[in-house]
Amino acid sequence: MVTASQQDGSPEAPYDPMRQFAELAGDVRDPYPMFAGLRESTPVMEVQYGPGPGRGSGLDPKAPRVPSLFTVTSHDLAQQVLTDGVRFSCAGYATTIGQVMGRTILQMDPPEHLRHRALVAKAFRARVLDQWSDTIIGATVSELIDAFAGDGYADLVPQLTFPFPVRVIARILGLPEADWPRFFQLSTELIAVMRNWDRAVAAGQELRGYFAEIIADRRRHTRGDLVSQLIEAEVDGRRLGDDEIYPFLLLLLPAGAETTYRSSSNLLFGLLSQPDQLDAVRADRDLVPQAIEEALRWETPALTVARTAAEEVELGGVRIPAGGFVAISLGAANRDPGRYALPDVFDVFREDKQHLSFGDGAHKCLGMHLARLEMRVLLNAVLDRLPGLRLDPGAEDPHIHGLLFRSPPNLPVCFDAG
Ligand code: HEM
Repeated sequence: MVTASQQDGSPEAPYDPMRQFAELAGDVRDPYPMFAGLRESTPVMEVQYGPGPGRGSGLDPKAPRVPSLFTVTSHDLAQQVLTDGVRFSCAGYATTIGQVMGRTILQMDPPEHLRHRALVAKAFRARVLDQWSDTIIGATVSELIDAFAGDGYADLVPQLTFPFPVRVIARILGLPEADWPRFFQLSTELIAVMRNWDRAVAAGQELRGYFAEIIADRRRHTRGDLVSQLIEAEVDGRRLGDDEIYPFLLLLLPAGAETTYRSSSNLLFGLLSQPDQLDAVRADRDLVPQAIEEALRWETPALTVARTAAEEVELGGVRIPAGGFVAISLGAANRDPGRYALPDVFDVFREDKQHLSFGDGAHKCLGMHLARLEMRVLLNAVLDRLPGLRLDPGAEDPHIHGLLFRSPPNLPVCFDAG
């Protein structure tokens, strides 16, 4: 695999992905009062722009900006936009992450989207997920927990939830283990696209070169991994070309690794900060699926998805011009008191288990069954293997933060060492 390329000629600072992720998430502890205020007064709001992302915004000034921006914060209106693929297009993603990843299904509209999604969806069907459950997902969680189970304490973010999904993806893709360190670093750089644009573009190019070799190899010898399945998938006599497979493989990293690490961390944080609910789930594992759904609703890992108005539209009494950019706040929608009783409370016994964390409509998350499976295997392993698990009482103020993405930067815990 290609080695690290230095972008600016200066000596490389020690690379610290955890710091980069903490910075990317932003240092906002609790955006929910602000969301509540917006939702109550202007559920569809036109945002007036300043000159550009300034110092301290956390965003790279090279990251693209949009002409006019509307935010949507109510559950009903968010769902309305997400399920209306005619008036609200996904083409705007071409000018943001499309620049780094190439043309992914995320930026396609019907009918192209439907055809393309049918091809890649084949590689994520239930039978395939079942195959991955023990061999890949269970094995990955076990090896990570093995490394600290004897210690009696750990920081579950760097030691478990952060490395977990990217290792799962590396294994699903069938990447040789010797390539993992470089693959993990490039993946992290790609994911942090809004933080360091140039580095993400360079990482995307390097990953593309790397995947070209993997695809060529799988075309010669099929192996049953995800890349082989993408090569072989066929719908109505059509198969994916290499130029369609690269962007999809690149999309898997931000779509599947960052979100799942954050959602697993939020699930553990929710349970650890409500020990009675942790005890209830430990005692009755049938509660695991609903704890997962509640964690996804309560702390949405990726707070916003985007659409562009394909024509002039009226939404919630506000006129959005054709081409207007619409930011749908999944985080605000998931805490809408018009939909959920006591929305700010983490309650694994909540009756209404629906949420918008996986989006809705035609682009609803393709990996949601995999994400749920990963969270389920991870939580069960944590409950089985770390008896007496609790937040480290000496830990300094564990908390969730973030405005673009949300999760705890650290999860220091103690347990009875096995
Ligand atoms: C808890 C974890 C996850 C969350 C919260 C999440 C969230 C989302 C959301 C909100 C969308 C819709 C974006 C939009 O409408 O603009 C989406 C789409 C997508 N997700 Fe996920 N995701 C997760 C895990 C995964 C995983 C594990 C994979 C695969 C490995 C994945 C692959 C995708 C893909 C390919 C799409 C694009 C679907 C399309 O455009 O038709 N996601 N995800």
